[in-house]
Amino acid sequence: MKFFIDTANIDEIKKAASYGFLDGVTTNPSLMAKEGISDQDGRIKAICALTSGPVSAEVLSTEPETMLAEARHLASLATNVVIKLPLTMTGLKTTKILANEDIHVNVTLVFSALQALLAAKAGAAYISPFVGRLDDTGVDGLGIVEDIQTIYSNYGYETEIIVASIRNPQHVLRAALLGADISTIPFSVINQLASHPMTQQGLATFLADHARAKEIKT
Ligand code: E4P
Repeated sequence: MKFFIDTANIDEIKKAASYGFLDGVTTNPSLMAKEGISDQDGRIKAICALTSGPVSAEVLSTEPETMLAEARHLASLATNVVIKLPLTMTGLKTTKILANEDIHVNVTLVFSALQALLAAKAGAAYISPFVGRLDDTGVDGLGIVEDIQTIYSNYGYETEIIVASIRNPQHVLRAALLGADISTIPFSVINQLASHPMTQQGLATFLADHARAKEIKT
């Protein structure tokens, strides 16, 4: 499973990249706003310079003409930009046009398997089901991911599933057990992935035993 980081924060991206398992980045307007950014071009270019993996940049226009123009503009910023479009009819129509131009689209705000089917038919390179937000409504978010996988395998769609809106390591574990293509993970959760209390405890014991053995020898 590929690991993307879900952030627009440069330090977080640098740190995650230094861990050695960063395969790409996803951003969204809320994450940009959190960084105090209202014009995303500069930040998208800076992120693209930090990774050769795909970097999703979200289009803000909702009307057909402006959505297409904004998407083409974002795609011109760097070769690894992926255009993030919402799962609306306009978004799907624009996805189809961009896919025909070999521009990769990540269809976002996916909350049902049928929406995911439409995105694949439109030629999306990626789709982003929001599992955490679904869980919040009492629906099993990863259950939707499983349904999407079944549908895609029934018809041989190559659209990659980015498990999004991840809130905890359990989401990452279940995504991996399902064989999802990608998880896009907040920095705080990336840091939780390696930690286990027994690892810390075991390490403390090893170091204490070693120190004792050294003391006895001297
Ligand atoms: C996906 O690409 C989105 O940026 C993201 O995962 C949304 O997550 P949230 O529900 O934590 O805002």
